[in-house]
Amino acid sequence: MERKKAYNVAIAGATGAVGQEMMQILEERKFSVGELRLLASERSIGKKYSFCGRDLTVSLLEKDSFCDIDIALFSAGSERSRKYADFAVKSGAVVVDNSSAFRMDPEIPLVIPEINAPAVTLHTKKGIVANPNCTTAVTLMALKPIYDVSKIRRVVATSFQAVSGAGAGGIAELESQVREWSELKEAPQETNAFPHRIAFNLIPHIDSFTETGYTKEELKLHNETRKILGDDSILVTATTVRVPVFRSHSVSLNLETEKKVTVEEAREAIKDFPGVSLVDDPENLNYPMPVDSSEKDDCFVGRIREDYTVKNGLCLWVSGDQLRKGAALNAVQIAELLVGNHV
Ligand SMILES: NC(=O)c1ccc[n+]([C@@H]2O[C@H](COP(=O)([O-])OP(=O)(O)OC[C@H]3O[C@@H](n4cnc5c(N)ncnc54)[C@H](OP(=O)(O)O)[C@@H]3O)[C@@H](O)[C@H]2O)c1
Repeated sequence: MERKKAYNVAIAGATGAVGQEMMQILEERKFSVGELRLLASERSIGKKYSFCGRDLTVSLLEKDSFCDIDIALFSAGSERSRKYADFAVKSGAVVVDNSSAFRMDPEIPLVIPEINAPAVTLHTKKGIVANPNCTTAVTLMALKPIYDVSKIRRVVATSFQAVSGAGAGGIAELESQVREWSELKEAPQETNAFPHRIAFNLIPHIDSFTETGYTKEELKLHNETRKILGDDSILVTATTVRVPVFRSHSVSLNLETEKKVTVEEAREAIKDFPGVSLVDDPENLNYPMPVDSSEKDDCFVGRIREDYTVKNGLCLWVSGDQLRKGAALNAVQIAELLVGNHV
């Protein structure tokens, strides 16, 4: 991308959970933004937001929204990405897409900057860079330091995913159900964002079921892990669970490595890896939790222990803010790579 003093940025889906986080992160990281164009649906036309002391108004996402835009950050869902990303590219913008629309396209890079940054510059053929699924991003931040010590053969993952992973509607649903419960002392019945009540419940179902019995969310972990690590031999089997937590996904990981990796080696590797913090002091009750990882950039890893049931097995636990590392932060980091301002 041509070097400029400031870049015109559009956020498609600016009013949503990820879009709002993107605005905050662009400001926090002092990304050199010229114009910031906020785009959303008809419902949001005219809504006002403040960015770096400027008052901005939301306009409609449409084909002609991207004139003079350098970077278009998409967070308006797969349907909108499929419909409008090409128009953004034709207008001269590079698209960083948060949806699943393009992730598995072999000509489109799927990037976590700490893990496979060179992919951004190698394959920008279609003018689109894809951001991974939020659970995949948090999981890989924990796995990659260990993968660098020894290849990982197989991973068994169980996720504990926050309601904000389902967007602003998911947050509102947990809030209203908890309020209803505490005020009326009865179980709320109405559900919109989730297939069942989420307050005081766990739902082992995220995204739609496939004929394999796995959900799409579970298969994304397998497929996207392989693409990001560039390793078609790694196996990932997952159970993804929605939990009544507002923010930050956590994942329990059981893995088998090719060579033995000791707990100490794993801890050292995690300590040294950018974007990851080790919190592994169970004696003093220190382990990663969503209340601590929320609104943080790093993913937190702990509960590292040898799995005594297999030859080269490790168990660990990661908690990371999926609105940040699983979406908005990762997208802005990709934008930084695109403009050459490496993180
Ligand atoms: N939430 C996460 O943790 C997370 C993590 C990784 C990836 N993602 C992905 O990021 C995307 C956004 O997720 P989110 O959680 O931010 O969802 P969200 O809170 O529901 O926000 C959706 C955004 O899309 C806009 N939108 C919806 N329909 C539209 C239309 N027809 N035309 C224009 N804009 C439209 C909404 O605008 P209005 O306000 O006007 O309706 C809103 O700005 C999704 O693809 C999601 O899979 C989310």
